[in-house]
Formats: sequence, C-alpha cells, structure tokens
Amino acid sequence: MPKLTRKQLTFLSFNFIYLLNILAIAQPDFVDKVCDNDFGYTANSTFRTNLDRTLANLTTTNSGYGFFNTFSGQNPDTAYAIGLCRGDTRDLIACGSCVNTSIVKLREVCPDQIDASVYYENCMVKYSNDVILGKNRQKDFIAHNSSIYAKYSLESFNRDVLGMLNNLTIRAARGSPLLKYATGMIIQPNSSKTYGLVQCTPDLTELQCNNCLGNAVAQIAGCCYGKIGVRVLLPKCNLRYEDFQFYDDEVIVPPPPPPGTLRLRPT
Ligand SMILES: *[C@@H]1O[C@H](CO)[C@@H](O)[C@H](O)[C@H]1NC(C)=O
Ligand SMILES: *[C@@H]1O[C@H](CO)[C@@H](O)[C@H](O)[C@H]1NC(C)=O
Ligand SMILES: *[C@@H]1O[C@H](CO)[C@@H](O)[C@H](O)[C@H]1NC(C)=O
Ligand SMILES: *[C@@H]1O[C@H](CO)[C@@H](O)[C@H](O)[C@H]1NC(C)=O
Ligand SMILES: *[C@@H]1O[C@H](CO)[C@@H](O)[C@H](O)[C@H]1NC(C)=O
Ligand SMILES: *[C@@H]1O[C@H](CO)[C@@H](O)[C@H](O)[C@H]1NC(C)=O
Repeated sequence: MPKLTRKQLTFLSFNFIYLLNILAIAQPDFVDKVCDNDFGYTANSTFRTNLDRTLANLTTTNSGYGFFNTFSGQNPDTAYAIGLCRGDTRDLIACGSCVNTSIVKLREVCPDQIDASVYYENCMVKYSNDVILGKNRQKDFIAHNSSIYAKYSLESFNRDVLGMLNNLTIRAARGSPLLKYATGMIIQPNSSKTYGLVQCTPDLTELQCNNCLGNAVAQIAGCCYGKIGVRVLLPKCNLRYEDFQFYDDEVIVPPPPPPGTLRLRPT
C-alpha cells in the first residue's frame, strides 16, 4: 500500500469527521428516560392493548404547534399519552418523526411500565394510566449539567441565570393555549453569552406553568449550581440554558386560540 501524503491524510480524516457528523445529525439525540418501576403491566393485559392503540395514534394528533395528546380504553386500564416538540420546531414532519422515534425508544427502554417518559433533544413523549392533561407532575424530574463551572463569580453567574429563567418563565406561562415557550439571552460580565429556553405543555394554566417551571428552576441550586449548561426535564415543563445558542431564534406567534383546541381526543 502506498504511503499517504499528509495532505491526503488530512483530506481523509476530514471526510471521516464529516461522515460522523452526518450520522450524528441523522440520529435524533436521545437525552434520558424515566420508567416508573413501581407498577408494571403484563404482556396480555388490557392496559397493554390500550397503550398500543394510544401510541399508534399519538403522532396523528399534532395540535399544529407540536403538542400531541390522546388516550384509549376505559378505567382502570386507560392509556393516556402526550408528546411535545421543542417550541422552535416549525417542521411538523420532523416533529412527528421525533415523536415516532421517542415512542419506539420508550417501548425499548421501559418495556412494561404503566408510566414512563422519554426525552430527546427536540421532543418528549410520556404515557401513563393516569390522566396527564391539565395536571402538573413534579416528581419525575431529571437534571443534566455541564461539567464546566462558570469562570467568574459563581454567585453572580447563578443570580443572572436564575433571573433570566424567572423572566422566561413569566413569558412562557403567559403564552397561548397552543404554545407556552420562551427563549432569551443574557450577556455575562466577561461579555460571553448565556442562552436560555423554557417550555410548558400548553394544556397547563398560567399558574400551573409558573409552578412547574418554578420547581424546575429551584432544582438548579441543588444539582447544578454555577454550571455553564443545565437541563431540567419534567413531564409537563422543561428548561435549558447553555453558553451557545441551541435553539432557532425566529419568533413563533400562535394565533388566538380557536375554541375547543384542547378537547380530549379518544381513539
Ligand atoms: C396472561 O397470560 C398468563 C400466562 O399466559 C395467564 O396466566 C394470565 O391469566 C393472562 N392474563 C390475562 C389478563 O389474560
Ligand atoms: C409515524 O409513525 C406512523 C406509524 O408508524 C406513520 O404512519 C407516520 O407516517 C409517522 N410519522 C412521521 C412524521 O414520521
Ligand atoms: C452534574 O455534573 C457532575 C459532573 O460535573 C456530575 O458528577 C453530576 O452527577 C451531575 N449532576 C446531574 C444532576 O446531572
Ligand atoms: C466567560 O464566562 C463564561 C461563563 O463562566 C465562560 O464559559 C467563558 O469561557 C468566559 N469567556 C471568557 C472569554 O473568559
Ligand atoms: C428580568 O425582568 C426584569 C423586569 O422586566 C428586568 O428588570 C431584568 O433585567 C430581567 N432580568 C434578566 C436577567 O433578564
Ligand atoms: C386514531 O384517532 C382517530 C381520531 O382521533 C380515530 O379515528 C382512529 O381510529 C384512531 N386510530 C387508531 C389506530 O386508534
């Protein structure tokens, strides 16, 4: 085999990295899952049948703003599910496909739980045998944080970030019954930027959204104080901040709510 010149090697490794990047983009980014292991279902149960039906139908229920909800079956075996795409996802196909991917993943990672959630970079899906709409669900939170600490006073960094997140919370909570989402940016004393995003599922009231995100923001002090990047994920709301812009900047303004938008849709 002929020896490769440095130029050829550089070219090859560049292409290899490029290929890796394409693969990374093609595969939606799995973040985490929560399987409630206290209660399981059996393979031939009525709940299982209802869950199959609910999840098979979930992607057909897009509100038009990336919120999905459906249920099927009778109490006590009703299977409820919701899906939520990140608020900047304008591409409904990409959103539906993320929800599809989440459903497949959910069944793989939580194979027989009656209550489970999965989080991807751009969407999440949750199912339960308990009503999900119109309720807050605070216990299943997950936090992820960067390993890097802010480089100046952690105290003032944290104060600035929490200030931004509290402001975003107020804006998101006042959003519409179709979308409760807000993003923003602050400039640090050393002139680097911190970008924040908060979102509630749109079925929550303003008060519920404020409570959900208030709880999420409060988790930061315990898990991730002074870190330059954090995510807190809950079934009904989530927040994230980073030192790079990870969301699409265009503003989405949903139209005024058409009546009956959040009607339950049994399958
Ligand atoms: C499910 O299958 C198991 C074993 O095949 C059986 O013992 C059980 O009674 C079945 N349960 C239902 C609800 O059909
Ligand atoms: C999601 O999956 C369903 C069923 O497998 C399929 O019919 C639908 O086209 C998929 N939607 C998207 C956006 O990929
Ligand atoms: C935060 O990051 C540290 C590493 O810097 C890790 O040990 C810890 O488990 C992380 N905590 C959470 C809640 O992600
Ligand atoms: C500024 O501070 C941020 C947060 O601590 C840090 O990530 C960044 O590297 C700093 N930038 C410079 C130029 O020091
Ligand atoms: C939050 O909002 C208040 C009132 O609008 C404003 O004075 C403050 O600068 C904001 N803080 C951040 C960190 O954005
Ligand atoms: C999905 O829901 C629609 C109405 O929302 C219903 O007509 C359809 O039969 C359902 N499909 C499945 C597979 O349950």
